[in-house]
Amino acid sequence: MKLLGLVFILLIASCQDYNSNSADESRYEEISFPPGASAELQASYRIIKDRCFVCHSEWSSYKTDQQWVDAGLVDFGQASNSSLIYRLKNFSPPGDMPTGAYPTMPNSEYQKLLDWVGP
Ligand code: HEC
Repeated sequence: MKLLGLVFILLIASCQDYNSNSADESRYEEISFPPGASAELQASYRIIKDRCFVCHSEWSSYKTDQQWVDAGLVDFGQASNSSLIYRLKNFSPPGDMPTGAYPTMPNSEYQKLLDWVGP
């Protein structure tokens, strides 16, 4: 009977509707944005949340374009002048953010940030 119980628990545990790797998981999380937050901002926020908030927790309150500008991190239309962007690919090797053991942002995600910030 004990074994049956264990099998049942394993079955339930494997029925999650997302891949329980932490990055995926948080993309399905409800995040409330203020009215007018563009789809591009929202997609970028989710990426930054997964990859950067672990160290840059103060950024979690930036849910409007203007807040990113006011923080001096984004200059819309000027990716090369936006530290949020250039720290990802410039400096060696290849980009200095995120630091430490955290993996480099994949190009597909980098592209999403550019879709938001502009060229
Ligand atoms: C392991 C911790 C860590 C992670 C993860 C991390 N950072 Fe940082 N970041 C730091 C530290 C520490 C500094 C301050 C020192 C410096 O500027 O190099 C910093 C500074 C920065 C700055 C300059 C800060 C400012 O206010 O102007 C930017 C921009 C930045 N990080 C971008 C990112 C982005 C984008 C990500 C996610 C892709 C990221 N970081 C993930 C640790 C981290």
